[in-house]
Amino acid sequence: MIRIGIVGFGVVGQGFVELLISKKNEVSKMIGDFKVEFIADSKSSISGDFELDEALKLKKMTGRLKDDKKPQELVEDAEYDVLIECSVTKLEGGDALRYIKTALKKGSHVVTSNKGPLVAEFEELMKIAEKNDVKLMYEATVGAAIPVIRVAKGYLKTFTIKSVYGILNGTCNYILSRMEEEGLDFNQVLSEAVELGIAETDASYDIEGIDAAIKLVILANTVGIRAKFDEVYRKGISYITPEAFRIANEKDYTIRLVAEASKDKLSVAPRLVKKSHPLSIKGTMNVVVFKTEEAGELYLAGRGAGKYETASAMISDMVHIYAPSS
Ligand SMILES: NC(=O)c1ccc[n+]([C@@H]2O[C@H](COP(=O)([O-])OP(=O)(O)OC[C@H]3O[C@@H](n4cnc5c(N)ncnc54)[C@H](OP(=O)(O)O)[C@@H]3O)[C@@H](O)[C@H]2O)c1
Repeated sequence: MIRIGIVGFGVVGQGFVELLISKKNEVSKMIGDFKVEFIADSKSSISGDFELDEALKLKKMTGRLKDDKKPQELVEDAEYDVLIECSVTKLEGGDALRYIKTALKKGSHVVTSNKGPLVAEFEELMKIAEKNDVKLMYEATVGAAIPVIRVAKGYLKTFTIKSVYGILNGTCNYILSRMEEEGLDFNQVLSEAVELGIAETDASYDIEGIDAAIKLVILANTVGIRAKFDEVYRKGISYITPEAFRIANEKDYTIRLVAEASKDKLSVAPRLVKKSHPLSIKGTMNVVVFKTEEAGELYLAGRGAGKYETASAMISDMVHIYAPSS
């Protein structure tokens, strides 16, 4: 019986549990029987014998779970084989970094959607996982369900990757594509994005390129380019004007926020992109391009965020730990 602990019970954590319920039969066919031992949010938890439906209902109706036991306590003291970590992202790692370290050191696998701990201590975390003979899986952190990490670490292992680049932030891509299509200015489209729930009220994390830079650091380290957040050259999109789009359009170009990592370059900045290029993707889509020595450019694209997009990547990671060939 595989014992699962879950920390973070917001959009992604609830999505994970909903998928565990709806895909119970398929998942257990692949990895055998499993049981969720505990679920914790920032201030409450549920553990021991409980139904997953009950936890979802409680959280939706009351905003909390049954007990007062704190996440750190459960991560430290409970018995579990895999920790599903989907609490909030903090650039310096935050509490999540402690949860992940604790779990790995206890000999439990970790599946996370949280970019913070990986950006803060990528190498250190990988070393701890290796030393304790467990896996740290993080597909959901970059491009949600787009299998960039799996492809980079698996299929592309025997390729020489010269660089990796792409559109890693759906909010910026939505804003830029709307500006292009409607000739609207940045602030108008930003307000629209906030209204639609595509951007946060304080959207600086997205529009200043911080989120894209964080994902770039994770991608870079995954393909063997050592990178730290402070080393990324970063320029946001708030200075882009409709006039810039008009000029770019005349030459059949558009403007996109492009993140790129190679041996000599770590950058997130708006760039002119040929309209025929896969990077000119529209709306909230993400695209990642691996530039390889042997086969040129390989593209992976899809929806880069969302409840089930992210949670399904975590389910896939968990299954991969126990059934790597399925
Ligand atoms: N949503 C997406 O599309 C998406 C895509 C890719 C990656 N991610 C990443 O996935 C993670 C979860 O995202 P989300 O959208 O589910 O966020 P969310 O809805 O804000 O949920 C965050 C959850 O973490 C809990 N939490 C906050 N601080 C905590 C702490 N110190 N210890 C334990 N739990 C804590 C919150 O508790 P309360 O319920 O008590 O507030 C909440 O249950 C984030 O790291 C995010 O960057 C999200």
